[in-house]
Amino acid sequence: MPSDLRVTYLRCEYLVTPLGIDERAPRLSWQLDSDRRGARQVAYRVRVASTPELLPSANADLWDTGRIESAQTVHVVYSGSPLASRQTCHWQVDVWDETTTCTQSAPALWSMGLLEKTDWSARWIAADPRIITRDRDAITGTLLEPGTPALFRNEFEIPSAIKRATIYASARGLFDLRANGQRISEDLFAPEWTDYDKRIHYRTYDVTKLLTSGKNMLGAILGDGWWSGYVGWQETRARYGSLENSVMIQLEVELADGKRLTFGTDSTWRCETGPIIASDFMMGETYDARRERIGWDQPNFSDANWLPARAVTAPNVPLVAQPAEPVRITEQLKPVSLTEIQPGVFIYNLAQNISGWVRLRLPKLPAGTRIVVRHGERLSPDGTLYTENLRRAKATDTYIAHGDPSGETYEPHFTFHGFQYVELTGFPAGVKPDYATVTGCAINSATPPTGHFECSHPGVNRLWLNGLWSQRDNFLTVPTDCPQRDERLGWMGDAQVFLRTASYNCDVAAFFTKWMIDIEDAQTPEGIFPDTAPRLREGENFIGLGNLGGSAGWADAGVIIPYTIWRVYGDRRILERHYNAMVKWVDWIASHNPNGLRLNQLANNYGDWLCIPSDTSFGTHSPMKNLLATAYWADDCTKLALIAGELGHTADAARLTALFEKIRTAFQKEWLLPDGRITTETQTGYLLALAFDLLPQNLRAAATEHLVANIRDLNWHLSTGFIGISHLNPQLTLAGRADVAYRLLLRDDYPSWLYPVKHGATTIWERWNGWTHKEGFFNPHMNSLNHYSLGSVGEWLFRHVAGIELDPDVPGFSRFVLRPFIGSGLDHARATHRTLHGEIESAWKRTGGKLTWTIRVPTNTTARVYIPGNAETTDSLQVLSREKDFTLCEAPAGSYRFNSVLSN
Ligand code: BGC
Repeated sequence: MPSDLRVTYLRCEYLVTPLGIDERAPRLSWQLDSDRRGARQVAYRVRVASTPELLPSANADLWDTGRIESAQTVHVVYSGSPLASRQTCHWQVDVWDETTTCTQSAPALWSMGLLEKTDWSARWIAADPRIITRDRDAITGTLLEPGTPALFRNEFEIPSAIKRATIYASARGLFDLRANGQRISEDLFAPEWTDYDKRIHYRTYDVTKLLTSGKNMLGAILGDGWWSGYVGWQETRARYGSLENSVMIQLEVELADGKRLTFGTDSTWRCETGPIIASDFMMGETYDARRERIGWDQPNFSDANWLPARAVTAPNVPLVAQPAEPVRITEQLKPVSLTEIQPGVFIYNLAQNISGWVRLRLPKLPAGTRIVVRHGERLSPDGTLYTENLRRAKATDTYIAHGDPSGETYEPHFTFHGFQYVELTGFPAGVKPDYATVTGCAINSATPPTGHFECSHPGVNRLWLNGLWSQRDNFLTVPTDCPQRDERLGWMGDAQVFLRTASYNCDVAAFFTKWMIDIEDAQTPEGIFPDTAPRLREGENFIGLGNLGGSAGWADAGVIIPYTIWRVYGDRRILERHYNAMVKWVDWIASHNPNGLRLNQLANNYGDWLCIPSDTSFGTHSPMKNLLATAYWADDCTKLALIAGELGHTADAARLTALFEKIRTAFQKEWLLPDGRITTETQTGYLLALAFDLLPQNLRAAATEHLVANIRDLNWHLSTGFIGISHLNPQLTLAGRADVAYRLLLRDDYPSWLYPVKHGATTIWERWNGWTHKEGFFNPHMNSLNHYSLGSVGEWLFRHVAGIELDPDVPGFSRFVLRPFIGSGLDHARATHRTLHGEIESAWKRTGGKLTWTIRVPTNTTARVYIPGNAETTDSLQVLSREKDFTLCEAPAGSYRFNSVLSN
């Protein structure tokens, strides 16, 4: 019988067909799909060749593993011939399954970037400032005001037919590259944010199809972005010390006859201002279409009156390939309503709070008409746009019409906004925009979607979706806190509490691999991890929060992130790469806190940020904050001891385990009463003690009851902040009180998860009281309506409602657990989660006391399956044990259906 196995989704370093990587030993992964129960891989063979022609034969010239008896399908480390700069690697996998059939994948490829400094021959160039001073309308950028971006161009001759053409490019600023009249890529905001004092990304693009033999044009528009624009709440721009943007582009052409040509930026390039008058992430963009330099990005354009670009000093830091998915427009939204709230003021509702911009499709307008686009997350009670919570972010785009008789279209270049509502003004009398005028473009890091959740409660479905949208809106090159106000920083506490949720929703492995580098780049020499990453250069005009590093629950993300990426994706390399940094951090805490309690060097000490009642003071101390800091330190030790064990650092593992024991003892002495009560009684105190194993076994049940009593005293309402909330429902469930977790989930009065949903939220709010019917909007000073932290309940929906859970002993979902906890209030629930091995599904439905449950276990994986209640059928699976609440089976790959009777 022929095997139905398919070998699909070939990835290199988590990415499909990545170009220009600089990982010299990249890891290769593939996925197996089959409908056959128990289908699995028994052996594989990977071949890597420098040309497609060499691939099918037995003489793949770069690497041929031969047949390897192994079930491994992810992170197979390339160990063939050394890979050189520019090398294209064509690869293919043969898989033998348990029926001994061999199946071959389709070929895939990756290419190497420029690995050596000497590979770069292009120069860094910047604009001649005179293009601004001689231009009446252009603006010289200052520390306070964004300036006019420059256009750069050059023409060059390619003498004969092209085999391959590749662009390598980097910038201090953001580039929008053009070749022969076209954008060379759909990527936005490249190169993306790093600590420019430590490293700068370069990008690689295949432009073979855009060039021809004969005359060609190459060009760039250069924007400010993180390099020279506003970042965070800083009142001045240029956080990396310079207002001057610069770019380097190197085009390498391989001709059909084998010759190679290189063209690069240098002072023969010409520069000029263009239609963008100013553009800044926070402030918005002003674009005067009358100033378009028609044909500038085509060959044969006369640039005689443009000025030569200036060659400038190259940055003195490494140029590195971006190891993650690019930022792109990932969805386009049509408005659902359009209201003229006052004469000439038009408000659109996109029905979804997004991060991105508006594409305008405008009717015929007189030249010079100024259309102003403002963005807001909500409307004020009088129907006008609510923008107070944007703080100093103006989030305003202005389009000045060219006057085309057939209308015109526009979308911004180097800005993004957080918004659901759009206000348009500026139309001349008698002209009105319509629905087609506005398209909302959602812009974010294009992390592949991997999860879906749905259940019988529409509010819960929306809650999950709100978390997903807040994730998408905020995962923009780094995990930011919010996309709308003057902040948008990579806050580490937010990211760590949400990471498990994020990893169910999307494949965030490459995204966090990149961000972890930013985190280590921001670590101080003593070992202090930052609170936000990438770091902004401090110094003159820097408005900091004192010391932006070392806060408990925030800086600890430096350990939590690698640990979690390892558990979820089976990634050991992130552990190896950051091991020393993690050890340094834990040792640094120890050096200041000799007694096992973390009471010293607490930095900004945010505590359980935005809990109720909330305390948003910085650098203050309290017993609860001490408890939180000590608990996180203890958990750092647990995680790092496991990591040390995994990497074979046995002495460290023993030392860290002993340190954990010491902290645990100190914790109990300081905060635990003999009846299981915690002296600083908060839900978060109990949750951390339970989650981080800080209690003696015999007091866990009592502590759980005190926790439940505390929740009952609040009449089953939420009260924890960012930190506590991520542990709340998982810990209740693991402690045998899933009933309480469900009860909390399904409440919809204030404060609860469903309260914002009931009041129209389409993303997760920063705070429980972002808006209340009693008080209206909270103080706009700190009231984002798009902050994912309180949405970390998404993890629980996947892990415990649908029951898709990691195996405690096996990282990476090659073996996993399926164990739903069926609670009252939901009649059915279904989730899918695409792991690196393929998609897991769990769907249950309850009718009266009967449960039907269907599951799907991906090919080449196995699951330990806990059938809730009293199983009537196990679909031919062998039963490992029968307990009061469940029947445990082991399931090889395949789809199964079970029936059971639920106890009461
Ligand atoms: C951010 C947070 C962050 C916090 C630190 C806020 O301004 O928006 O999400 O974690 O500061 O306490």
